[in-house]
Amino acid sequence: MACIHSYGSIASISLPTSPSFSPRSRCAYKPRFLCALGGSVAEPQVASVAEPLLLNAVRGDDVERPPVWLMRQAGRYPSFRERSENVDLIVEISLQPWKVFKPDGVILFSDILTPLSGMNIPFDIVKGKGPVIFDPLYTADDVDQVREFVPQESVPYVGEALTILRKEVDNKAAVLGFVGAPFTLASYVVEGGSSKHFSKIKRLAFSQPKVLHALLQKFTTSMTKYIRYQADNGAQAVQIFDSWATELSPVDFEEFSLPYLKQIVDAVKETHPDLPLILYASGSGGLLERLALTGVDVVSLDWTVDMAEGRRRLGPNIAVQGNVDPGVLFGSKEFITRRINDTVRKAGRGKHILNLGHGIVVGTPEENVAHFFEVAKDIRY
Ligand code: CP3
Repeated sequence: MACIHSYGSIASISLPTSPSFSPRSRCAYKPRFLCALGGSVAEPQVASVAEPLLLNAVRGDDVERPPVWLMRQAGRYPSFRERSENVDLIVEISLQPWKVFKPDGVILFSDILTPLSGMNIPFDIVKGKGPVIFDPLYTADDVDQVREFVPQESVPYVGEALTILRKEVDNKAAVLGFVGAPFTLASYVVEGGSSKHFSKIKRLAFSQPKVLHALLQKFTTSMTKYIRYQADNGAQAVQIFDSWATELSPVDFEEFSLPYLKQIVDAVKETHPDLPLILYASGSGGLLERLALTGVDVVSLDWTVDMAEGRRRLGPNIAVQGNVDPGVLFGSKEFITRRINDTVRKAGRGKHILNLGHGIVVGTPEENVAHFFEVAKDIRY
């Protein structure tokens, strides 16, 4: 049955109120998905068993509603590395949202920095402080010491966890892997952790560009292998986080990020042509058209871009993900419903994965997260 049953006590299901969801268009969808108005909503059993809704949506198939999933944000877990490097814990934590909300995507519990140890870049994630790189890289010699990543040797727990997740989720949702983009990974290892002004990586970029390019190339080769490894072990789509690419001006993005993203996408498409790749960059409004040039299948928008505008700027061939402000989940249920409907209407029918514009903020009322999924899963185009 519908996801709503898994978290219990919802007595009646309200239909979306937005004018774009006319009863006619809602019920004109494939008969087997027809909702029983006034009763419970039937899950699209056939489609979900055959192939997750999320994959259908990305490919532009005629879907009944946008798939929906959310990413949690930092802060809940002490000893992050311990939790993220143990197969049982990865699986258990990854499945928590799945068990409660039945999202259409289940993201691996891990971090973009997880591969660093295997590349000879020791790090930790310290509670209250975030990532700490023990020996930040500055010189050509430092970059020479960076080893190419061999996922099956360095992070076998990721592959094992993905394989188990894929079995557990059993195509009722898409299992999502992820990697950090070369520039964003470089920003952590050069800055030594999170940064405000990105002055160290910019100093490197603008005074010794060759050194930075050598590092970016190493991350590019390694992340290409990592995406393939994740796909080979069960990931059905992989999201690339270039969280800090927007710290670069467009001309610098074209030199220090775009070519590497494109290289990753081209190489992965050669071996895994059907694997959807999703690209996220925070605050990407100034770079949207350039993000599309990477060749990814989906661009994930944050909430600083109007969805209709983002859709227009990206063009019809690319799918969009997002982009409700995570802060909206602190509003009333009616407000959350309105914003979801507004986003879905602006994204238009198909090629949209409904999501927040970033992870769920710590302190968000869980009942509002539940409400988000409830409303989302009740939408019918
Ligand atoms: O839903 C999920 O399970 C999400 C899994 C996930 C994590 N990190 C878990 C995590 C994902 C997709 C990431 C990606 C990630 N990690 C990104 C890209 C996404 C984005 O936010 O743009 C970035 C930039 C990182 C780097 C990172 N990891 C930071 C900056 C921090 C610390 C943040 C803070 O406020 O302390 C982490 C640690 C981290 N990654 C935690 C979690 C749950 C917190 C660990 C802890 O609380 O100890």
